[in-house]
Amino acid sequence: MQPPDLDRHADPWTLAGSAPAPEAGPRARIELALHTALTAPSPGNCQPWRWFAGGEVIELYRDPARTCGASDPDGQAATLACGAALGALRVALRALGLDEQTALLPGGHPDLLARVAVGGRASPLPEEQWLYQAAPKRRTYRGVMAHGPLSRALSRRLGVMVDGTGAEYHVVEDMTRKQAIAAAVEAAIAGEPPARAAARAAGGEPGVSFEGPDGAEARGPAIADGAPAFVVVTTAGDDHAEWLRAGQALMRVLLRARVDHAWGSFLHLPLADAAGRKQLATLMGATGHAQALVRLGGGADSLPTPRRPLSDVLLAQRPN
Ligand SMILES: Cc1cc2nc3c(=O)[nH]c(=O)nc-3n(C[C@H](O)[C@H](O)[C@H](O)COP(=O)(O)O)c2cc1C
Repeated sequence: MQPPDLDRHADPWTLAGSAPAPEAGPRARIELALHTALTAPSPGNCQPWRWFAGGEVIELYRDPARTCGASDPDGQAATLACGAALGALRVALRALGLDEQTALLPGGHPDLLARVAVGGRASPLPEEQWLYQAAPKRRTYRGVMAHGPLSRALSRRLGVMVDGTGAEYHVVEDMTRKQAIAAAVEAAIAGEPPARAAARAAGGEPGVSFEGPDGAEARGPAIADGAPAFVVVTTAGDDHAEWLRAGQALMRVLLRARVDHAWGSFLHLPLADAAGRKQLATLMGATGHAQALVRLGGGADSLPTPRRPLSDVLLAQRPN
């Protein structure tokens, strides 16, 4: 339990998912929710977000100074990451007993991605509390995963997590389809424009985000072998609003997975451009556009990747 005055310089991992002090008012609860949002994943940990919180309104802005590297030419991955942070914020607000109404891309500023109006009391369901409490334990897990399918119960709950987000999700556990996805990942690596591949490698971003049993980056069939399941998040369209929806859905999936001791890691290279996003959805037999591809399965705990504190990302006033 933390004191009513939260330290904005604190490591977000130490406050995310924690219980509010009994006397904490809406402002302290909002800041707790913001600390939780900062634990969202982002490509290369670029954390491309800024926040403004005035009264009971929270605004999420993209940070134009923090792009997400060479493999994000149209900004889809950065926007998806902001969507994930928004998803974590909304989960936290509800778990902390605050109701909210969120508008995506409300206009008025080119970097404004979402406005969250907090108002009224929410009565969170136990599962919403679990998601919130899972936030400080979520990690991108790049090691060898335990074999075996996801439990049916978890698969069912992941579907429920995505309901109402405007995105859809697909779990792939069948080896033939996993191999087709692995082939798409390999093709994306092989087909990457050389200048982009060089810039990505120079930035330390791997093409594949996890290791095979030999400790080397998993490639080819090892991509399918190393993934107990793939989860693909799709949307009907392929624009900024859809990327924000997909990010929120993805965050809810990752948190719910962590509740059941399942971890995720990203394979984002095939989704770096619009054609790749369409192609992967078609491969899934889906009509829309794939926005996120993650490997899901049993992993192990590891130290958190550092985050910028709230003091670095909370704006004193709305940007001009
Ligand atoms: C859209 C997106 C794409 C990502 N792509 C990769 C990737 O290609 N390789 C990788 O190792 N991690 C990837 N990540 C994971 C980030 O590196 C990770 O979220 C970040 O380092 C913070 O670590 P954490 O998730 O454990 O908190 C991606 C994350 C997001 C949201």
